[in-house]
Amino acid sequence: MIPSRALGRFLSTYTTPARTSLKYQPLKNLRKSSSMAATAAAPAAPEVKESESEAAQKSYKIVQDVRNFAVTEAQRPDFDHAKAIETTKSPYPAWDYGQGVPDDGASLSQEHHEVDPYAPGRLSVNNYRLLVSAIAPRPVGFLSTVNSKGQKNLSPFSYFQVIDHDPPMFIVGFSSRPGRVKDTYRNLKETGECVINTVSENMIEAVNATSIDAPYGVSEWDVSGLHEAPSTTVKPSRVKESVFNIEGKVIDIKEFADHQQPGMSIAATVLIKATRFWIKEGAADADFSHIDLDKLRPVGQLGGVSYGRIVSTFERPRTRWSNEAPKSELLSGLEEKEGELI
Ligand SMILES: Cc1cc2nc3c(=O)[nH]c(=O)nc-3n(C[C@H](O)[C@H](O)[C@H](O)COP(=O)(O)O)c2cc1C
Repeated sequence: MIPSRALGRFLSTYTTPARTSLKYQPLKNLRKSSSMAATAAAPAAPEVKESESEAAQKSYKIVQDVRNFAVTEAQRPDFDHAKAIETTKSPYPAWDYGQGVPDDGASLSQEHHEVDPYAPGRLSVNNYRLLVSAIAPRPVGFLSTVNSKGQKNLSPFSYFQVIDHDPPMFIVGFSSRPGRVKDTYRNLKETGECVINTVSENMIEAVNATSIDAPYGVSEWDVSGLHEAPSTTVKPSRVKESVFNIEGKVIDIKEFADHQQPGMSIAATVLIKATRFWIKEGAADADFSHIDLDKLRPVGQLGGVSYGRIVSTFERPRTRWSNEAPKSELLSGLEEKEGELI
């Protein structure tokens, strides 16, 4: 546990405006700690006034309203549970160095439209819709947390990614919304612990249901009907249905205080370090170094309320200069040119 005063200093520094964050050096004792837990002593983010929060709620339209969804879905083909994942050739198997994108002439004649995400009058919902449709597919990090009273929470986050393996590190982004911060973020700040669970195709309805804006303290385990499995290094439970679970502890939090709008909760990014992995029986190879895609069946979040599945893959080997340059006139020519410059 970190002394609350040190943690207070840590978090308040981390709540300085984003533009100054690059200058910030984390406190030494916190940086060293591999099992840092944020605690209830963390200073609360700036209070959100109820009247402002109500006003913000009126103009907040981030989640797409899908009317008559049942009628629309009824016209679509059934989900093919038995669909095999095929492996094809890559798009241009004969691609050679310097070729760029073959057959891309038409696209090169198209110009790009410049967008300033901060332009006066540009709605943040347009940045939301743009980014979730452009940066796709995104894996869904399904986070299990508990608050300081032990109340459980389970919610999906697609501003999520593994960012290193040594040490195993993960990042989760919490968006601002009218009123209170997301319960998961509050819990991470209070207890510094979570389990990140993978999401397979067969889990998606249950996972999606946990994104409901349940009142603080209400458990989305009950909402979803998913099953708990015990964790070893953290308090929150693992999701038994997931193929892969990562127990983890918070090591850094960055709050974007300079970006906070009246009535809206603060946006924040949380850095999590893994403390334990769990892999479902039969899903990995003998030394637990590879998970079978056919068992994982990962779901990617796309734009709007769309999800995608993987039904086809292809491979491209990684290359090394020392092997490739002797075989390629273009590479060896580049090497000679570089030699002339020196
Ligand atoms: C697939 C999916 C991905 C989501 N990704 C994010 C995300 O990256 N960041 C975020 O703040 N909210 C995200 N949400 C919305 C949260 O899940 C939602 O606000 C939820 O109510 C938060 O729960 P909590 O308050 O119990 O933490 C996502 C929802 C879904 C269905």
